[in-house]
Amino acid sequence: MQDLRWPTYAARNIVLDAAVFDDVPTGRGSMRVRDSEGKVYLDAVGGIGCLPLGHGHPRWIAAIEAQMRKLVAAAGTFYTAPQQELAAELARRVALPQARTFIGNTGTEVTEAAIKLATRATGRDMVLVFDRAFHGRTLGAIAMTANAAYRQPYVACVGEDRPAFAHMNVVRAPFGDLDATAAMFEQYGSRIAMVAVEPIQGEAGIFPASRDFLVGLRELCTRHGALLGDDEIQAGSGRTGRFLAWSTLVGDDPALQPDIVWLAKAVGGGFPIAACVTTEALAKHMVKGSHGSTFGGNPLACAAAVATLRIMDDDGLLAAAAAQRPALDAIAAEDPEPRVKQIRGLGAMLGIEIAGESQPAQPVGDAMQRLGVLVTVCSGHTIRVLLPYHAGVAELRQVWSTMRRALSA
Ligand SMILES: Cc1ncc(COP(=O)(O)O)c(C=O)c1O
Repeated sequence: MQDLRWPTYAARNIVLDAAVFDDVPTGRGSMRVRDSEGKVYLDAVGGIGCLPLGHGHPRWIAAIEAQMRKLVAAAGTFYTAPQQELAAELARRVALPQARTFIGNTGTEVTEAAIKLATRATGRDMVLVFDRAFHGRTLGAIAMTANAAYRQPYVACVGEDRPAFAHMNVVRAPFGDLDATAAMFEQYGSRIAMVAVEPIQGEAGIFPASRDFLVGLRELCTRHGALLGDDEIQAGSGRTGRFLAWSTLVGDDPALQPDIVWLAKAVGGGFPIAACVTTEALAKHMVKGSHGSTFGGNPLACAAAVATLRIMDDDGLLAAAAAQRPALDAIAAEDPEPRVKQIRGLGAMLGIEIAGESQPAQPVGDAMQRLGVLVTVCSGHTIRVLLPYHAGVAELRQVWSTMRRALSA
């Protein structure tokens, strides 16, 4: 079938058709999809981390259907019951004092919201980010994203990455290097509005930050009057076993929390929605007219997200997600694979780095698809596994054994 979209994605040579519900236990989402030829796959892409409940969880569908009959669109100018419920559910889960939320549609949009908030709240004009970071693909977010393939074509708009400034005034330090970050503060401190960090770098190949690094960033931001921004788009929404990856890595000490947290992907259970959460004290800088979105806070999307968050709690899905990393380690120990260089990640955010030439993992990912398991490949070297949270030993075994067969193919 001819692909009529812009040619922006690597061809996968299949057309996905539908989720497969044979043998799915009652009250669960599906982990399998079929293509237009009828071939069935285990879906470890999960919309790149958007399907914590799997496909078509019945309660999630029921919540959307019910909302569809009540109110489908309202525009941000109206406050609606689903927005209120979602903001309250998020405030319960994100430990920020008197949390206030902007609801958007997609990850990069809430990265932009965070940049705008930080610059308005501090009156400063610079953002500090990290090597290998990925924060999105709109121009402000691309300026913060490290990968040259994403940013270089837009250099005229976002500026060179080094030595110091993009047009958007982004400076970059090595991920995990507190001394280098402190040196950036020495040089530009009075201009840095926000330090933005992914607690687990996703697109880069699943690299968790250390607790010391994240705590050190908190201390540097506090000392220099900058805000600390936590991009939880990929790692958050329960994927690591706590609602925020920040909580999994740093804990709950109120003195060690970020100032701005942004979420997308899994928070809608597959429905497009994103949220940027901050304190009331900071949110007040976003005065009338300073930001907005026609679809942001859409009632259907909010109802989908509220249902997703409640299902995660009711079905014990965070604990299930947390169990995935130890399960994969046990499988790898039982059935070792010498061509695997490293397993990284927490909970249901897993990366398997393949040793070898510079781009060893893409052919493995392609062969896994032919063998019936869908994965994405990050940075050319790492197979990324983003299964639904209720996936367990059986699915992880299938991923591992298929990867081993693909490596031999
Ligand atoms: C950490 C992080 N930030 C931002 C984004 C951008 O999100 P979206 O693709 O929804 O715009 C992504 C997407 O992969 C991400 O992983």
